[in-house]
Amino acid sequence: MTPNAIDIEERHERREGSERSLELHDLQSGILHPRPSPYVGTYLVFRIDDRRDGREFVGRLGRSVASATDWSAQAHAWLTVTITYAGLEALGIPQDSLDSFPPEFREGMAARAEALGDVGVNAPENWEKPLGTPDVHIALAAIAPDTARLNVLLDEVRSDRADLAGVAEIWRQDCYALPNEREAFGFKDGISHPAIEGSGIPGTNPKEPPFKAGEFILGYPNEMGQLPPMPTPEVLGRNGTYVVFRKLHQNVAAFRQYLRANAANPEDEELLAAKFVGRWRSGAPLSLAPDRDDPALGADASRNNDFLYHEDDPRGLKCPIGSHIRRMNPRDAVVTGDVRLHRMIRRGTNYGPHLPEGVLEDDGEDRGLCFVFVGASLTRQFEFVQKQWINDGRFIGAPTERDPLVGPNEGRCPFTIPARPVRRRLQGLPTFVTTRGGEYLFAPSLSALRWIASLAS
Ligand code: HEM
Repeated sequence: MTPNAIDIEERHERREGSERSLELHDLQSGILHPRPSPYVGTYLVFRIDDRRDGREFVGRLGRSVASATDWSAQAHAWLTVTITYAGLEALGIPQDSLDSFPPEFREGMAARAEALGDVGVNAPENWEKPLGTPDVHIALAAIAPDTARLNVLLDEVRSDRADLAGVAEIWRQDCYALPNEREAFGFKDGISHPAIEGSGIPGTNPKEPPFKAGEFILGYPNEMGQLPPMPTPEVLGRNGTYVVFRKLHQNVAAFRQYLRANAANPEDEELLAAKFVGRWRSGAPLSLAPDRDDPALGADASRNNDFLYHEDDPRGLKCPIGSHIRRMNPRDAVVTGDVRLHRMIRRGTNYGPHLPEGVLEDDGEDRGLCFVFVGASLTRQFEFVQKQWINDGRFIGAPTERDPLVGPNEGRCPFTIPARPVRRRLQGLPTFVTTRGGEYLFAPSLSALRWIASLAS
């Protein structure tokens, strides 16, 4: 058994019985529940110019948000309401309460750019406005199985705001998930999700024990047996969580060109692509299908995430140690640090038109992924993963390498593909993914939305 697996089991036993049940009726549904497949969605951003109008808006929005117990609402459309630190200020949240939020949230994503590697083309001065500016106050995610139901929800939001002159809509981004769940580079996404104790929602890896709710929701013990710091008063902090939003542009043409230039033939191109991600485009993991794609495996949710690395593939001969999914979740592999402290709920979604199959020239369209992460600690989860696992390679003993798919490789970094008799080493990886903007947000509980709406002063 690996050190990680021992830790996991011990922790599991230690905390059995100490569970406090998750108050699903108070959680915003979109935080925990997987999205339907396929779906369409819209992100909307608002600026609050008048705190009373802002509070009224929050109260009205809260009435359209389904709770995490309300599965029936999932069939229609649903809304998630999130607020930046500047937004909490604009809403007139009391100062002692504002001060109780952690510094990284108070600073916001743009202020953390240097540490996150958002420099050069990724720097906030190049972001799409208003992202990263103090104008972003409330961000909504509206998601539905089809456009008709999405429009009903968007009409509701529009009428919620219609008579509130002190709230301005300042940004909109439409997004979608295709029926085949492929992202812009052509890979099936959204396969691997953690199980969360008390949520009733199963994870996708039967070999990964469920996580303590406190990893993802404030007010509950986390994997270290601690109650994570929570904003005050309790009605504001409890059952809330943090959300990271990042608009990531994908240079699909550059990815295709790089594969073409470095592969021996079309089959090798597909193998190389799979080595970058750790999965074939169908979603089949290299760990279970190392030599050729297995679309039936890729489509089978009971098998496509049922694997570990340590016993079966310690050297990365099947799934490279530096591939995207093995970096993002090394599972039981031996790496520096404790993998279970850096897991995340992910809700990636496409924006922009797909580049037609076979096209190798960029058509100038803006396309990519709206990356959404949910977790109780911005620093220990998202920021750690971005800094240590995407932008660095020391944790896997490859200090010159970065995440080959999403890292800022800038034509300088190599990517090692372990193989026998000789490893393959790709040089000069271009940057395929660029940050177009992002925000740190707080997703309050349903009772916190009501509390904000009821503030008087
Ligand atoms: C445009 C940017 C990105 C693309 C195209 C992308 C694509 C993918 C794909 C195709 C998968 C495999 C599907 C799955 O296992 O669910 C995946 C998994 C994953 N990605 Fe990304 N990703 C991107 C950015 C990121 C970022 C910025 C992070 C973290 C900060 C991240 C974290 C993860 C995690 C945690 C997994 C699951 C790994 C596992 O549990 O095995 N991704 N991504």
